[in-house]
Amino acid sequence: MLTDAGADGLVLFNRFYQPDLDLEKLAVVPNLHLSHPDEMRLPLRWIAILYGRIAADLALTSGIHTGHDVLKGVAAGASITMMASVLLQKGIHHLTDCLREMEDWLIDYEYESLAQLRGSLSQLNCAEPAAFERANYMRVLNSYRLDWVQKA
Ligand SMILES: Cc1cc2nc3c(=O)[nH]c(=O)nc-3n(C[C@H](O)[C@H](O)[C@H](O)COP(=O)(O)O)c2cc1C
Repeated sequence: MLTDAGADGLVLFNRFYQPDLDLEKLAVVPNLHLSHPDEMRLPLRWIAILYGRIAADLALTSGIHTGHDVLKGVAAGASITMMASVLLQKGIHHLTDCLREMEDWLIDYEYESLAQLRGSLSQLNCAEPAAFERANYMRVLNSYRLDWVQKA
């Protein structure tokens, strides 16, 4: 276990450097592929599953682009959320927009602090823990198929 080895915090999941290969030039092509917001779903799920089960702080990285994304990360159980791609796209002032979005949401939903929100939608605390399980995939697929049939 990483915590037994002394880890106080875990980052889920750092995006690896992924150069491409150019088959015409037979060369390695360094490429900077910035993240898409959908990429936060995987770390979000794992933070929600791990929150409260291990003695380490959890940091969410990959696909965090807005203040609402930060709030989702905190609700799943993250102590920290990290941003790189969106700041490269929009500039450092985007942080001010994120902060405002977070403050507005916390006020609208009557939260006094981020700590109050932290982990409230983790698997241990949410109303439907099975939503984080892979078995739920079957249910999602079944409901998708029903919708599809109904629309046709
Ligand atoms: C230009 C750039 C440079 C990065 N450099 C590093 C690095 O030196 N070491 C590292 O662990 N991660 C590095 N990362 C990964 C980020 O720390 C982060 O995990 C990743 O970008 C996911 O967040 P994002 O969706 O906001 O980009 C880099 C990311 C970008 C876009």
